[in-house]
Amino acid sequence: MARDRPVLDFPLGSHMPTKTMPVLDTPHLRLRALRGEDAPAIYAYAHDAAVARFVSWPRHRSLDDATAFLKYAAQAVASGRELQWALARRDDDTLVGAAGVRLQGHRVELGYVIAQPHWGRGYATEAATRIVEWAFDNPGVVRVWAYCHVDNAASARVLEKAGMVREGRLSAWVVFPNLDGAAGDCWCYARVRR
Ligand SMILES: CC(C)(COP(=O)(O)OP(=O)(O)OC[C@H]1O[C@@H](n2cnc3c(N)ncnc32)[C@H](O)[C@@H]1OP(=O)(O)O)[C@@H](O)C(=O)NCCC(=O)NCCS
Repeated sequence: MARDRPVLDFPLGSHMPTKTMPVLDTPHLRLRALRGEDAPAIYAYAHDAAVARFVSWPRHRSLDDATAFLKYAAQAVASGRELQWALARRDDDTLVGAAGVRLQGHRVELGYVIAQPHWGRGYATEAATRIVEWAFDNPGVVRVWAYCHVDNAASARVLEKAGMVREGRLSAWVVFPNLDGAAGDCWCYARVRR
């Protein structure tokens, strides 16, 4: 596995002490650090109403929103709270989406988004599967989990294909700003190291 630094080993209950991003490869993708020049591609998908429908962040209205996301991601990574990857095609570095994890001690929360022109090619499944595998390479991680809106069948399928189990329904779990601004019910998925 290519990476900037050795993948960390972090004790139960702590945040991951890293300021660098591990680079992860899948059959078609390279999960790499986000870069400033990714902003236009991020804006292109984050502005798309179909893409933004079931995400927890407001649909991007201008390139500035993508730049602000990149700034947020850099700060979150630097602080050790999150890791945020660009999902780039291995053959030509085209950005097809992004994925991130929140580091919550023994729990890791996963999220991802794929640009609409690239849906249905297995990219989300490849990325999610690789991130789950990477997370469990860290001995302190016991639970990798994610939520998705109960109507987001494609995302639920991705989580299942990444080896997660549907644990239950979280009522009024997240406010979805691009749906109706109401708190929507979500499925909770997880994979647990027993
Ligand atoms: C959800 C999303 C990430 C899926 O990305 P993707 O790269 O197209 O996903 P994959 O190709 O790896 O797999 C999609 C799976 O969902 C299935 N699927 C797609 N649309 C579906 C639908 N409406 N109902 C049921 N299953 C559906 C596909 O058939 C495929 O399963 P299969 O391989 O068993 O046939 C992408 O649609 C997306 O970015 N949506 C907007 C953002 C989002 O919802 N992010 C997740 C927030 S929780």
